[in-house]
Amino acid sequence: MSAGGQGKRSAERMEDHLIENETSFYLKAEQYWKDIPPTVDGMLGGYGSISSIDINGSKKFLQKFLGEGKGKTRPGCALDCGAGIGRITKRLLLPLFRTVDLVDVTQEFLDKARSYLGEEGKRVENYFCCGLQDFQPQPDHYDVIWIQWVIGHLTDDHLVEFLRRCRSALHPDGLIVIKDNVAYEGVVPDEVDSSVCRDLPLLRRIVARAGLSIICEEQQQNFPEEIYQVHILALR
Ligand SMILES: C[S@@+](CC[C@H](N)C(=O)[O-])C[C@H]1O[C@@H](n2cnc3c(N)ncnc32)[C@H](O)[C@@H]1O
Repeated sequence: MSAGGQGKRSAERMEDHLIENETSFYLKAEQYWKDIPPTVDGMLGGYGSISSIDINGSKKFLQKFLGEGKGKTRPGCALDCGAGIGRITKRLLLPLFRTVDLVDVTQEFLDKARSYLGEEGKRVENYFCCGLQDFQPQPDHYDVIWIQWVIGHLTDDHLVEFLRRCRSALHPDGLIVIKDNVAYEGVVPDEVDSSVCRDLPLLRRIVARAGLSIICEEQQQNFPEEIYQVHILALR
């Protein structure tokens, strides 16, 4: 997650201008995260103080869909994508779901998660160390797939393919949630962590290419003025 920087450079699709070398796009990001401390502040680019506002906003959003009745998403098994040390797993997913899996490309963060999650972490079934561009979630397995502050690390095509695999990995009435920064217009690259920030029209096109529909969309409120707007999209 990184702050503002709107209007540096923009493009319709990120591959058109930004990713000259896909391998180095991914390698640079991996290297960047290896050097980041395994803390909440590290996960949030120095904005650790907004973690509670973030989690509370997510909880309110997610609870609208959860339940045991017809059409409701069951509180069974969740997948935390780009989970880092498990900041979201600890305060959002473990309190709401029976079991949780984590996937992240940085082994050091997953190692830290084992202690950070404490006693409740016993309900974590799997820690997958893998880039989302390569990750194959188990088909028909998850009730919620939570993807927060990580989609900018995937190329458009890899993100489409990953979302398609996520769709197949959902239980009936399951839900995919993307929560991420959105650019004011176009695609804004971040050379520091080797990521991009997309605008909403592009993100919506990617979601549609993956065969998913947006069933609810909200902007997270009460974040600092200087950071990107953050939107939450529920998909199925
Ligand atoms: C900004 S942090 C967000 C962590 C967590 N989602 C949160 O909100 O606390 C980004 C995370 O994405 C992970 N990451 C970066 N590129 C990735 C990739 N290609 N596949 C999976 N995880 C990746 C990093 O290791 C890091 O843990």
